Amino acid sequence: MEKSRPGVRLTALRVLRGTVVLAGLLAFGQPVLAGGFLQGHYPLLQAHEVAAMILAAVVLLSLVVALLAWRPGGAPGALPRGQLITLVVIAVQMMLGFSRELIIHVPLGVGVLILVLKNAERVWKLPLRAPAAGAAEPSEQASPAEVDA
Ligand code: HEM
Repeated sequence: MEKSRPGVRLTALRVLRGTVVLAGLLAFGQPVLAGGFLQGHYPLLQAHEVAAMILAAVVLLSLVVALLAWRPGGAPGALPRGQLITLVVIAVQMMLGFSRELIIHVPLGVGVLILVLKNAERVWKLPLRAPAAGAAEPSEQASPAEVDA
């Protein structure tokens, strides 16, 4: 079996802690920018589009880093899986935005925000140091008291 690399895991989790917060802020900003556009501040549609592209890039970067945290870092595979699902949903969301399918685009925007927040929770719940040999990874359901960050 391939040995895990605690150094890679530590660096990757540190980077991920930053990228998931950035993705959260961008996802929170999207309804605000869209609302401003709908209220008549038309340049905000351009900002909404640019923010969508930056969000997609940040989630792509998070996916690459989460893959490294998983292999060789030894972190749970749920990390890259969550980022991959989020990236695919954001790509669909952007296509729906460009084609003005707002009846799906607006509710899916809420879905994107939930996915991004779930990814952030998953990353921030993981301790920065590797679990001791033989110890289990904190599960998704672990209470905050069980997880020291
Ligand atoms: C985080 C998720 C989101 C992404 C990635 C995203 C992406 C996009 C993109 C790429 C466009 C096309 C922009 C253009 O044509 O220049 C667009 C348009 C739009 N989006 Fe979003 N969006 C998101 C969330 C939302 C949310 C939550 C709302 C509403 C609450 C919303 C409302 C709109 C509106 C009103 C338009 C303009 C449609 C039109 O031109 O008539 N979006 N979005």
